Amino acid sequence: MNRFVRWIDDRIDIAGVKRGLLDRKMPGGLTWWHTLGSATLTVFLVQVVTGIALAMYYSPSPDHAYDSIRYLEKAVISGATLRGIHHWGASAMVILVLAHMIRVFSMGAYKYPREINWVLGVFLLFIVLGFSFTGYLLPWDQKAYWATQVGTNIAGTTPVVGPMLVKLLRGGGQLGAATLERFFALHVLLLPMMLVVVVMLHLALVIRQGIAPRTAVLETPDAPPRTTDAAYPEYYETRYAKSKGAGVPFWPNIIYKDVLVGVGVVAILVILARVTGAGLESPADPSDTLYVPRPEWYFLPLFQLLKLVPGSWESAVAVGLPSAIVLVLLLLPFFDRKSIRSLSHRPVAIVSMTLVLAGSGLLIGSAVREEPANVVVPESSRPLSSIERSGRVLFQRQQCSSCHFIAGQKAIVKKSDTPDAPDLTSVGLKHSTAWMHSFIEDPIRFHSDSKMPAFGPPTLTHEEIEEITRYLTTLRGPNGATAKPDFKDTFPEPLKPKEIKP
Ligand code: HEC
Repeated sequence: MNRFVRWIDDRIDIAGVKRGLLDRKMPGGLTWWHTLGSATLTVFLVQVVTGIALAMYYSPSPDHAYDSIRYLEKAVISGATLRGIHHWGASAMVILVLAHMIRVFSMGAYKYPREINWVLGVFLLFIVLGFSFTGYLLPWDQKAYWATQVGTNIAGTTPVVGPMLVKLLRGGGQLGAATLERFFALHVLLLPMMLVVVVMLHLALVIRQGIAPRTAVLETPDAPPRTTDAAYPEYYETRYAKSKGAGVPFWPNIIYKDVLVGVGVVAILVILARVTGAGLESPADPSDTLYVPRPEWYFLPLFQLLKLVPGSWESAVAVGLPSAIVLVLLLLPFFDRKSIRSLSHRPVAIVSMTLVLAGSGLLIGSAVREEPANVVVPESSRPLSSIERSGRVLFQRQQCSSCHFIAGQKAIVKKSDTPDAPDLTSVGLKHSTAWMHSFIEDPIRFHSDSKMPAFGPPTLTHEEIEEITRYLTTLRGPNGATAKPDFKDTFPEPLKPKEIKP
């Protein structure tokens, strides 16, 4: 073993790597708050591992996405835990990145010489939010579908480029198969690559520049007042070297804290995954316009704010506010050049941080409080198949519901000139699929005085009528699960040859 280590060492100098990474001195007085960055990295690694495992079961198409997740949850050993960890890991990433940023902000660690690393950190925050936005859609359940519908709509309110942006995000005008494929590709290919590159740069800079020392180290009476002063770099160098000289080695004095926090965070994720899991609602249903969309909690402040502002302000808030936040965060180290670092001497920083945190907290709180429960209408004992669901979409699009009533659907205000049409709540018990198909095609053939318009080609194709009738077949009234159909179908006489027009 020793010979092997020596052989490697001769060639790539492991001892040097150890000296550079593990034995390097860190400034003294590092707190537990300093572990937030490494905890974020730990969760990211957890997301990579669980994400790869999830991708082995997942199928990114509207026909299979939901079923593949349900299969994972129900049939794969530890599948639900796996998905739960990935689900909670996503929230943990956001919380940890934000907490890490707050730590860096309040210790003034974004100031000279760490401006570049702050900017890289801001990029990381937005990549993490991108992960969350794209990942939310993948289960293709109601929550996923409608939150993404809202999210892409918000992007659409951007002046000038809005419509193009929506098309780009959705891969077309409507949210559908193209959107799902697109989000999947971003989530598993583009965003991970971007994140890895930026994390590497971020870490390389941390190692190269060393971790920021306690604020007091850089706040001696002889400190130049601004970091732009010509004397500041030299002042910084001397003070930093001194604090490092009195400091402790990374291994083992510092790293044990990182490991402890990392293990703790992973343990919490596993517990959350086992206790509450990730949740899965009913499959995405584009025709269910009664569904109340809910975004992930960290998008709630913006979502809630949008409800409070008047309509004409919506676009300004939806797009302007996030853009302003990005700009302020990116430019922060370049306009704040006072050399003072401790939070207690930075009143503007205290006030703005308190305002942002308290405001977001209040908005999240009020959003959670007024969140209405989504009523689930029991239509039949099993979830609708994709054909039946397309049928339901057609039923609404063809205005069938302007004449017909189905229990559980939004009450339609009837116009006075629409004829009285039968209630279709339990039509699946009254008529066979075949009968309904022929009837919808041409009602006059059945009742010469029928008030129902014919929907046969060219209005609807045979496939579309079939989809509608399959949907109608599932409508079996309140006792649908047990009721027995009792078909009373009478078909008209077949047309005599002379009646068929050439
Ligand atoms: C203009 C109003 C109107 C529209 C729109 C309409 N219907 Fe009808 N529908 C009627 C009337 C009136 C009847 C009863 C007439 C009859 O029996 O000939 C009827 C009967 C039916 C029946 C037979 C019900 C039974 O219990 O006998 C079915 C099934 C049906 N409609 C399905 C549909 C579908 C599907 C659509 C949409 C593609 C649709 N209807 C659109 C007015 C309408």
